[in-house]
Amino acid sequence: MTIQRVFSGVQPTGNLHLGNYLGAIVNFVKLQATHNCIYCVVDLHAITVPIPVWGGPDELRRNTREVTAAFIAAGIDPKTQVIFNQSQVAGHAELTWVFNCVARLGWLNRMTQFKEKAGKDRENASIGLYDYPVLMAADILLYRATHVPVGEDQKQHLELSRDIAQKFNNDFAASIASNGHNDKYFPLPEPVITGPATRVMSLRDGAKKMSKSDPSDYSRINLSDDADAIAQKIRKAKTDPEPLPSEEKGLEARPEADNLVGIFAALSGRPKADVLREFGGAQFSGFKSNLVDLAVAKLGPLTAEMKRLAQDPGYVEQVLADGAERAGTIAEQTIRDVKDIVGFIRKQ
Ligand code: TYM
Repeated sequence: MTIQRVFSGVQPTGNLHLGNYLGAIVNFVKLQATHNCIYCVVDLHAITVPIPVWGGPDELRRNTREVTAAFIAAGIDPKTQVIFNQSQVAGHAELTWVFNCVARLGWLNRMTQFKEKAGKDRENASIGLYDYPVLMAADILLYRATHVPVGEDQKQHLELSRDIAQKFNNDFAASIASNGHNDKYFPLPEPVITGPATRVMSLRDGAKKMSKSDPSDYSRINLSDDADAIAQKIRKAKTDPEPLPSEEKGLEARPEADNLVGIFAALSGRPKADVLREFGGAQFSGFKSNLVDLAVAKLGPLTAEMKRLAQDPGYVEQVLADGAERAGTIAEQTIRDVKDIVGFIRKQ
């Protein structure tokens, strides 16, 4: 039986927000109780956008430490799990090259996130941005991970990772067998997209995803926001004039209400139906006050711990170095296997 291994990544591009936390990091924390987990700060992915967007070398280092601090502050144990930054393990880039030769142009041309991020000026997008999903497949498969906790927006990328794993297994089936491996050398990684907040929306527009690149800071709650900022943003969040419904089906066609209820549910660890049983019939003003209290109570300690860790870069970098060492051991084995399977002669 393949061991169950979890892998996921977060980009160090600044403005870590509530969507990252509720859509991904909360699930990272839960999974460590049952799985071996590897959580990666994906700095190679961060540089796929123009330098002014990722901020340059100092900003990248600061943001890499900040995501690491968020992982630790959220409750991921760096001793029992692996936390590291992608560029410290060379295997990510090596496996990407092999996968570049497995993945098809047509598959990448279908990726909606590339189209969104490249925008109208596609000719000027970096090759790295186009190749982003292949690097992501390499991240996961380098550890032969079986489960990948992510938000809804990463679903298409996960499907591509499965296609790449499957094509590699098929293309090299004979060599995989003659090297003594099970015919499914790479597992087909399963997306883990669960909870009431797999797609947290902008607080200003229920049709748009909460995102680090939205020009309005009022659209998102940053993990660095203090209690006052959280309160202001929630009070100003867009709603509609109706009171809250008492059942989930009453949230249909009310995206802003649905979003706030989803955030409340995720922060309190309760299903949406349960939240609506309590607040059904209430006006938004009262509900928002409760949401402010809940958000401040949940995020306050996280933010405080992140601030404390920001004062201790030595410790944070030590966590990354130690994680990279352990990740590297697993990665080296996969790279050795892949070299043998493909036919690259290597030092014995
Ligand atoms: P990134 O850095 O954009 O986001 C990190 C995680 O946060 C989730 N997320 C959201 N979830 C709910 N609502 C939102 N509004 C929201 N915004 C972001 C994302 O789905 C993600 O899980 N490509 C990945 C990073 C990556 C990766 C990987 C993930 C690189 N290699 C391998 C998994 C496995 C990304 O850009 O995440």
